[in-house]
Amino acid sequence: MNEKSKIQHMNDLKAQSRLGGGQARIDAQHKKGRLTARERLDVLLDKGSFHEVDAFVVHRTHDFDLDKQKIMSDSVVTGWGTIEGRLVYVYSQDFTVFGGSLGEVHAAKICKIMDMAMKNGAPMIGLNDSGGARIQEGVVALAGYSDIFLRNTLASGVIPQISAIMGPCAGGAVYSPALTDFIFMARNTSYMFVTGPDVVKAVTHEEVTQEELGGASVHSEKSGVCHVAADSEADTLYLMRKLLSFLPQNNMEDAPFVLSDDPLRMEEGLNSIVPDDPNKPYDIKEAIQMIMDGGNFFEIHENYAQNVVVGFARLGGHSVGIVANQPAVLAGVLDIDASEKAGRFVRFCDAFNIPIITFEDVPGFLPGTHQEHHGIIRSGAKLLYAYCEATVPKLTVITRKAYGGAYCVMSSKHIRSDVNLAWPSAEIAVMGPDGAVSIIFRKELEAADDPIQKKAELVADYKEKFASPYVAAQRGYIDDVIEPKETRPRLINALEMLSNKRDANPAKKHGNIPL
Ligand code: HXC
Repeated sequence: MNEKSKIQHMNDLKAQSRLGGGQARIDAQHKKGRLTARERLDVLLDKGSFHEVDAFVVHRTHDFDLDKQKIMSDSVVTGWGTIEGRLVYVYSQDFTVFGGSLGEVHAAKICKIMDMAMKNGAPMIGLNDSGGARIQEGVVALAGYSDIFLRNTLASGVIPQISAIMGPCAGGAVYSPALTDFIFMARNTSYMFVTGPDVVKAVTHEEVTQEELGGASVHSEKSGVCHVAADSEADTLYLMRKLLSFLPQNNMEDAPFVLSDDPLRMEEGLNSIVPDDPNKPYDIKEAIQMIMDGGNFFEIHENYAQNVVVGFARLGGHSVGIVANQPAVLAGVLDIDASEKAGRFVRFCDAFNIPIITFEDVPGFLPGTHQEHHGIIRSGAKLLYAYCEATVPKLTVITRKAYGGAYCVMSSKHIRSDVNLAWPSAEIAVMGPDGAVSIIFRKELEAADDPIQKKAELVADYKEKFASPYVAAQRGYIDDVIEPKETRPRLINALEMLSNKRDANPAKKHGNIPL
């Protein structure tokens, strides 16, 4: 072969590799409303930034006549590129090749790229579209998954790991994403389950569709496995790019600083957002939008455990994580799902140097047998542990109720919050006035000629004494009571005051969060 034909040969091989499982399977993928592995990378990454590795790799299996079907690149495309000019490592599973299933070389390609991401301190993004372990490769495929799981775990808290579910993902193809920080799903075209509908039917005789078993709605509303559900694949990839803009490249860096709004901006609307009637709801997301730069808020777990709101925003150009009780849903009460949702988010922010802003309006933990029997004690402790352990700057704004254990948990001063502010509408107490009066004045109420009148008087007394921020302020449990409209400049000032904060936990192998 002369030099020209050698180059031609190389180009032919590369073109063949790019074709994956062939045009018919690519067409089938498109027909199902899905992009191919490479098309997804084109949408995700900055134009022309993708550098592929291992395009010539083929599997080494002979069983089940697999040696007659060797497809270059095997069933995953790997490499690196940029998003908004920042380096990321990527893999994108190719469903057109053996259903994106994972065998020895597929796993080795992913491990190679994960090792590079760790060594060079850049986020790892996985686009998953796979039937799980390649059945024909047996235990070798399981070994491959184990190699990836180990790397997912070791990379946790070192580099951000973000997964997208882009097709029917089963087995190991859901457990690797489950170990990562965020899972995105595309509505109507992506599914996650440990075993697919056929296996479910064989084992339990239950008939269920892929959508019912593990569609984006199920996982973003019921199980909480999915953090962000998008309307299409393109939307999913766009939202992943957006999320990355709030994150640092690794745990040794800070997130990018992007100033886009007046740090001194006051927001009159905040002065009237909390209704006079303490039992009336309001939408804490409206307050968040008024306070944050440009009104932008990237919500995580938007449709799951909506009684607590978590997500990313910028405040005076600094990336921040927000945790807020939501009075508009279940009065903002903390239950099992809300505690776990917020706890995991707090730990992510702490691992990646993202300050945590807590907006508090919480009547307490949700009472009842369902919650007790399913472990609200353990789940509430997860959130408490996460806040106690966090050493990033922590700012708290009590907008209304801060009752009982939930007062302690929601980033109180006592668990190392740095700056705690309250609005004049704040009520900081062991419990709400009605419940408190019923318990501590039971005998007086029983003896009263007019128990209703007596209770009203006692409730009024209790409110006067406890349902305000001033008892806590007298003790320094909150640092200041502020006019709601000045919340934005006060928080930005506090963030900047804390920009050199250094705090650490005692040396240990690791703590034992109540999982
Ligand atoms: C080898 C596989 C495969 C697999 C799919 N294929 N899954 N090949 N190993 N695990 C192949 C199919 O044979 C088919 O090849 C092609 O991929 C497309 O699959 P279809 O079934 O036609 O597609 P669809 O109807 O869309 O269904 C997708 C699916 C289903 C829901 C993912 O294929 C499925 O249920 N697969 C098995 C899922 C599963 O149980 N995996 C668990 C593996 S164990 P042809 O040539 O016919 O087009 C595991 C354990 C890891 O992962 C450890 C965890 C801790």
